[in-house]
Amino acid sequence: HGTSKINDQGHLEIGGCDTSDLVKRFGTPLYVMDEALIRQRCREYVDAFRATGLKFQVAYASKAFCVMAMCRIVEEEGMSLDVVSDGELYTALKAGFPPERIHFHGNNKTPYEIGMAIEAQIGCFVVDNRVELHMVNAIAAEKRRKVNILFRITPGVEAHTHEYISTGQNDSKFGFDLDNGSAFRAVQEVAQLPNIELLGIHSHIGSQIFEVEGFQLAVDKVIGFAAKVRSELGVIFSVVNLGGGFGIRYVEGDTPLPVASYVQAITESVITNFSRYDYPMPEIWIEPGRSIVGDSGTTLYTVGTYKDIPGIRKYVAVDGGMTDNPRPALYESRYEAMLANRANEPGEEVVSIAGKCCESGDMLIWDVELPKVNTGDTLAVSCTGAYNYAMASNYNRIRRPAVVFVKDGEADVVVERESYENIIGNDVVPSRMKQVSK
Ligand code: LLP
Repeated sequence: HGTSKINDQGHLEIGGCDTSDLVKRFGTPLYVMDEALIRQRCREYVDAFRATGLKFQVAYASKAFCVMAMCRIVEEEGMSLDVVSDGELYTALKAGFPPERIHFHGNNKTPYEIGMAIEAQIGCFVVDNRVELHMVNAIAAEKRRKVNILFRITPGVEAHTHEYISTGQNDSKFGFDLDNGSAFRAVQEVAQLPNIELLGIHSHIGSQIFEVEGFQLAVDKVIGFAAKVRSELGVIFSVVNLGGGFGIRYVEGDTPLPVASYVQAITESVITNFSRYDYPMPEIWIEPGRSIVGDSGTTLYTVGTYKDIPGIRKYVAVDGGMTDNPRPALYESRYEAMLANRANEPGEEVVSIAGKCCESGDMLIWDVELPKVNTGDTLAVSCTGAYNYAMASNYNRIRRPAVVFVKDGEADVVVERESYENIIGNDVVPSRMKQVSK
């Protein structure tokens, strides 16, 4: 998919770059990202909205993969940016991302983060709960600013997805409850808060969702609430944000819809529901993360040791693992892989791909069919663009890999491989201990 293909030498090529060359030049593990495909996904969202003639914002959920070069792409593609921490905000600002297009999310923004975002004059806070509402108002008052907010509500919609990543049900740490009246009371309270401008409402029903029904149900809940708020409080929402969660294909059997279908289902549902109530058409915002970057990423590893347990399984170990991709260990996520240096050879054996961390749970793939694997082969795991680098760790003091963007035969490092210096950079040996030079 994307610009990936198998070249004449039988090597996997991405963005016009032979992965064997990338391995030689940058080493492994290596995150390779197909820049053209990232931009294509951005455009699919933006174009699908443009075609509707409605007012919209597509905010890239930067948690999926937040580095400065990515923020540049998001800006160039005319999108907004969703951040959830001071670190993501800092990255965006340092990358010169226009603050008015930044939305700040999270269920526990600290006073420091709120202050930092107000100083930067970001576009909007997505306020998650009552404590935060008052905190934002107080900090805005101190700084003599008025800030835009959306309220995040829990729509009580459960998307068909892995339990750990569904956030739309009522028993959730996120958002104001619709059913018990806490969302309604929050809208009431805003009238008393002079430094808050309420733009509208936000709902996020989960992640890696394939069906459109969840979004349609969420729109249903949102319009019901908007109508109640209008008739009882005279407040009209000008923005409706339906969150992210649009699924991608990791393995066979995953059946996401094309991006445009999600946009179409959402816009149609908003148009239908809001006109039914004769409600002024709001701006529609969404926040895709995974579906912008997920399928653009491929991780290249070098095969090291292997171990055949006859009649049971063959373990093939690579030079990375849960430190660069914790998703299989965390969520039992599944991935596909191929030998990038022998991409034209047929499958010969079914093996399981192990990482190099000192724990049994560090497995990347159970059962994948590959040509007979040798030490030194390059294993390419696909669809690692989202929540891989973003969730990488230094467990076992393993250095985080480099990230390269490939496009039209060029490869640019966008994140350097960590150094040993990075590893011990923040370590301090207390002065009462024997001093060593770092
Ligand atoms: N908006 C909100 C409020 C969110 O909480 C999220 C994701 C998104 C947008 C973007 O969702 P996406 O389009 O990427 O599905 N670490 C997990 C995923 C956690 C998603 C958290 N929220 C994983 O690796 O699957």
